[in-house]
Amino acid sequence: MGYYDVFALFYDTSVAHHYVSQRLAAQEALDLSPGLTVLDCPAGTGLSFPHIKAGIGDGLLLGADVSSGMLAKARKKSDQAGWGDTVRLVHADAAELSSSDLGVPGVDRLHIFLGMSAFSDMQGSFTNLWGLLNPGGRCVIVDVYAETLGFQGRMVNLSARADITRRSWEPLEAVAEGFRRDELESTPAHGGAMFLATGTKPA
Ligand SMILES: C[S@@+](CC[C@H](N)C(=O)[O-])C[C@H]1O[C@@H](n2cnc3c(N)ncnc32)[C@H](O)[C@@H]1O
Repeated sequence: MGYYDVFALFYDTSVAHHYVSQRLAAQEALDLSPGLTVLDCPAGTGLSFPHIKAGIGDGLLLGADVSSGMLAKARKKSDQAGWGDTVRLVHADAAELSSSDLGVPGVDRLHIFLGMSAFSDMQGSFTNLWGLLNPGGRCVIVDVYAETLGFQGRMVNLSARADITRRSWEPLEAVAEGFRRDELESTPAHGGAMFLATGTKPA
């Protein structure tokens, strides 16, 4: 059993309230419309699912994560919401996830919320996920950045098994058209500055 399989048991109660406005900002930046296919990786416990489903309606939401414990919580949310087979969960490492795992040739939107700082291989994971995005598709990254770590930053790194000193927008900046990065509301609990980065895959 991995770290996040245990964290899944109290993730929503301890984490969800710290990222409410940031999740809304990501929803808006995704520029969703009914029928789109969205890849949410890492899906975690599915905290972004209501925001994404609100935008795509019966479109397909693909949630991928390496933790089966986190995905079990996401499955429960999906079942309770009655989304049926319009939400598909995939147990996979972001660096290895394939279109055959997803069951679609590509996706219209890529959502990476608190993933870039957590992936063990950030660049490899991003390159792989970017490869699954259709040309013309949009990617949204939300994460935390701290140039140097204070006490809370160390706590965040420890509790999330993350590295928030990574310049985790740079892989997107290097390949996207129309790249932009904006600061989001941050509190001391985040351990650094929250940002939203977005860009489109060249057609
Ligand atoms: C801080 S949580 C964020 C979860 C979710 N995106 C959210 O907003 O609540 C980090 C997640 O990354 C997942 N994760 C870590 N490394 C991964 C990898 N290599 N591939 C896929 N998921 C990974 C963990 O299992 C965990 O669910």
